[in-house]
Formats: sequence, C-alpha cells, structure tokens
Amino acid sequence: MTDHYDAIILGAGAAGMMCALRAGQRGRRVLIVEKLARPGAKILISGGGRCNFTNIHTAPDRFISANPHFVKSALSRYTPRDFLSLVEGHGIAWHEKTLGQLFCDGSARQIVDMLVEEVGQAGGTFALGQEIASVSHDGERFTVETQDGLFTAQKLVIATGGPSIPKMGATGFAYDLARQFGLKVVEPRPALVPLTLKGEDLLFRELSGVSSDVIASAGKAQFREAALFTHRGLSGPAILQVSSFWRPGDSIAIDFFPDRPADWLLTAKREEPRRAIRNLLGEGLPERLAAVLAEKLALDGPLQEIADKRLRAAQERLSRWAFTPSGSEGFAKAEVTVGGIATAELSSQTMESKKRPGLYAIGEAVDVTGWLGGYNFQWAWASGNACGLAL
Ligand code: FDA
Repeated sequence: MTDHYDAIILGAGAAGMMCALRAGQRGRRVLIVEKLARPGAKILISGGGRCNFTNIHTAPDRFISANPHFVKSALSRYTPRDFLSLVEGHGIAWHEKTLGQLFCDGSARQIVDMLVEEVGQAGGTFALGQEIASVSHDGERFTVETQDGLFTAQKLVIATGGPSIPKMGATGFAYDLARQFGLKVVEPRPALVPLTLKGEDLLFRELSGVSSDVIASAGKAQFREAALFTHRGLSGPAILQVSSFWRPGDSIAIDFFPDRPADWLLTAKREEPRRAIRNLLGEGLPERLAAVLAEKLALDGPLQEIADKRLRAAQERLSRWAFTPSGSEGFAKAEVTVGGIATAELSSQTMESKKRPGLYAIGEAVDVTGWLGGYNFQWAWASGNACGLAL
C-alpha cells in the first residue's frame, strides 16, 4: 500500500519537527519518518537534560559555514523570541544561565512534548521506528520505502542531522542522500568536541578534573570560558568552542590569566619581592595547575631571585600557552558536526535544492554549525521554520 503526502520529512529531530508543525499549520499533509522509536532523542540529552534551547545573542556571526551569509534570512525570520513565545505558550518555565543561554527549569522532555503536541495539532503524522530502505524520485514524486511500506510526496525534506554521537544511531545518511541527488557535501568534521594531548603536553593530563577560566583561541576565533583538563587532554566550554575552528596539525593557545595587565609578574616582583612564584600563580589558578605551569616554566623560589627577562618570557607564555592537540575525541564525543550539505546547493530563503526542486535540507545536515550555547537549536528551529513556510 502506498500513502501519499504533500511532504515527507526524514528525521523527527529539532529541525524536522519545527518544519512539520509549520507546514502542517499551513494546511500541508505532512509525514515525519524517523528511524528511532521516539522523536527528539538529541533534544532529550541536550543541555545536560535541560535543553539549552536557544541563545538570546543569536546573530549570523555565531555560525560557521562556507557561506557565512547563508543563515541570515532564516535567522531573521525566526528569532530566539519566537521560540521563547512557543515555550511560554506551553507554560514551560525557563531561565538564562550564562552568556545568553536559555534552558528549561524542568526537563528537555518538555521541549520534545511541546513539539510533538504542536505537530499533532497541525495535523502532522509520525512514522516512528522506520528503517529507510530506499529513496527515489520519478521526476514528479519522491518515494520513501521502509519496512512498513511506501510513502510518496512531491516534496522531501532531509532533516536527519549529522554523524555526531553514532551510539545514538547518528550516521552520514543525510550526506549519502544528498549525494544520491547530485548535491555537494562539505567534508564533515567533529565539532564542539574535546581535544586530545600527547607527548610534550602529557604533564597537563595529570591535571584531570582541574578547570580554570581562560581565553582559548584557534586562529582568529577566541572564547573566554572555562577550560577543563581531562585524562585524555582538554575539554570544557572554551575548548569545545575552539575545537569547531581547529584543524588537525594546528595549535591552539590558552591565556591562563585573561584579566592580568601585560607586566603583572614584573609589577609583583617590585611590590612583593619575597613572594614565591608558585604562590603568586596559585592566586589566579587552581593550585595543581599553578604547580604544573611553574614546573613547565622551570620557575621556583621568590620573585626577587628570578631575572626580569625570565619573568617577561613567563608572562608572554602564560598569556599564549600553545598546545598542539594530537587529535579530537571524534564524532563519538562531538556535540555537532562542522560541514555537511553545501549551502551553495540550497536557497537560503526556503532551504530547497537549486538543482532538485522539491528536495530540501535543514538543521545540522546542512553546512551550518553554531557556537556552543543554544545556537545549534536556534539554527534547527529557524531553518525548519523557513522550510516549513515553503512546503
Ligand atoms: P537531530 O539529530 O536532532 O535529528 C535528526 C533525526 O533524524 C533524529 O531523530 C535521528 O534519529 C533521525 N534519523 C537519522 N538518520 C535517520 C534515517 N536514516 N532515517 C530516519 N531517521 C533518521 N544544541 C543546542 O543548541 N543546545 C544544547 O543544549 C545542545 N546540547 C547537545 C548535547 C549533546 C550531547 C549533543 C550530541 C548535541 C547537543 N546540541 C545542542 C546539538 C543539537 O542537539 C543539534 O544541533 C540538533 O539536535 C540538530 O537538530 P536536527 O534536527 O538537525 O538533527
């Protein structure tokens, strides 16, 4: 038996459900085909179970893409305030945590329930637990074949996300499908991911569990947040942020004393000559980290016994400590994917393929990646909305 729809959306994640509810509200008959038994799996685990569902500082410069202008249209037509209105309309309590990040007071489950309810009210249908065997196009309609039968529609939306966290079933399905229809894919890389250290930097791995407020940078990208030392290398929000800009072989830099003026060690030597260097470093840093840095700098004893030249060199190094990560923890630990279906293939207004009218791609499947902090969901909502308005 074949079921006909106006549009089939592949993937009941953040982008797919937003797209379905918007298209349904406009009277479209929409089917969401999802391989897992339940919708919104990544929403449920997001934000430590509280879903950092948007960021009030959303702006195009918070996104990484081969075409930085691509996000502008969709983001301007669906803002954090729009999503917040939806959240408040469902009586979901929320709070701003830090840096404009909005979280549920209760649980991420509330966001999933809200979206499922909205899709239902808009007349959308879920086909859950579906293994997609094939997708084809006969020149007029798309046909999706699953173990439950054949579904056809004039419009098909790829909303199956990226390959981050394969344990949850994430794959490169979106890219394979895009390529099947002749669309280019920008090489995907793990992003918002811990980085690993080896060799020279082994000493830092002894600091597993220690975190500190730093400025981390990779190339021109700079983030002031916490960095965390792990038994494999570096993590914490500052590192996750720079990981999206890092490429294998590059180094990253950490400013361990972001608030100190340029000559602070020399000033301290003048003012407190008998003070031990370790003690001074320990003033702004966790003790174990201060000890490792002093050891690496081969500095010990009172400040008055250390030559100005060495203190100047130490200041310089502490403000731009270079690490060359041996790698990242890969898609297994990456929150998102940089790269994906090339934006050059899509209309930024509708997310429709320029080559294949009727085929659309939204959310993480597309070569658009947000910073850490709710930006990735805002892209999912905004691109889903733009597409839903066009179906
Ligand atoms: P998403 O991955 O949500 O949905 C894709 C759907 O397609 C899934 O339901 C999947 O099962 C389905 N699917 C895949 N292949 C299929 C196939 N072959 N057939 C049928 N269905 C298929 N972002 C943020 O802004 N704030 C946050 O707090 C967090 N926190 C966070 C924590 C963790 C641990 C991770 C891994 C990620 C985050 N993120 C985040 C990122 C965020 O989860 C991500 O950007 C969005 O979920 C992307 O939404 P999509 O709808 O594009 O994909």
